[in-house]
Amino acid sequence: MVTRKEWVFYKSQKAPKGIFRTKDKICLSPNDRGFMFADGAYEVIRTYNGKFFRLNEHLVRFKRSVDALRIDNRDIPLIETAIKELIKRNNLQSSDATIYIQVTRGVWQRSHAFPTEPVLPTVYIEASRFVPHKDDARLGIAAITVSDIRWARCDIKAIGLLPNVLARQQAVDNGAAEAIFVRDGILTEGTHTNVFGVQDGVVMTHPKTNYILAGITRDAVLGLCATHKIPFSETFILEHKLSDLEEMFLVGTTVEIMPVIKVNGKPIGKGRPGKITKALQVAFRDHILSASR
Ligand code: PDD
Repeated sequence: MVTRKEWVFYKSQKAPKGIFRTKDKICLSPNDRGFMFADGAYEVIRTYNGKFFRLNEHLVRFKRSVDALRIDNRDIPLIETAIKELIKRNNLQSSDATIYIQVTRGVWQRSHAFPTEPVLPTVYIEASRFVPHKDDARLGIAAITVSDIRWARCDIKAIGLLPNVLARQQAVDNGAAEAIFVRDGILTEGTHTNVFGVQDGVVMTHPKTNYILAGITRDAVLGLCATHKIPFSETFILEHKLSDLEEMFLVGTTVEIMPVIKVNGKPIGKGRPGKITKALQVAFRDHILSASR
């Protein structure tokens, strides 16, 4: 098998100007605060046929996360340039790809408080070819619910994802594709997705609060509801009312719009992707095609 060399971008105390390297040549310090404390923020951005989907919205959210963690944000303009260069270097100009960006507080001897001298944040970016789960999007997936044991700043896209990792594995162990967090009886979001339900023809999703990530796809889907005159409401979906839902779907950069047909082993609605979900999938595809032309 021929393994392609994957170009990544890296900037740190050791490489203060930032460098493009192949991934096998990257060395990260064990004293990086991302490694020691998960002290950093990240973003995941999609391209379709080499064109970015809502790049600016992702960068605005990224700056918000970085600022919330009080990490120096001055690399963000450089990140935008580096992402574009990575698409070229990895030959992704006419492919679907995901771009992963991470910024940490940098390298310092282990101590919980911030470094006492100025250190440069560590920036790491990679761009990889993306292959969607077409069958899942057509047939729908099963999900489970799990207790939302995360911190109260889920609006920050922080790299500390242990509750998400454990919850997603619990889903996999139970033959499901996603775990949906429940806080005080309310469905908040999935481990890497926002959650939508449909009841009496109205599309519902958790309001933007500190308990969910303000998803870029979530915004796009609400925009499509408005354009296509599908009634929607940013309101709570209650776990004990799950059996009242006619349809359910997850949205996110890596899943787009994913029908959920079963939760905790019980069917949602008729146990197959619903009419509104399918209409939104078509609208989303058209939206991408027109945006990436
Ligand atoms: N996750 N909620 C959580 C907890 C997420 O981690 C994500 C995205 C979303 C959806 O947001 P968006 O539509 O902006 O992708 C909601 C990324 C894809 C990840 O962690 O891989």
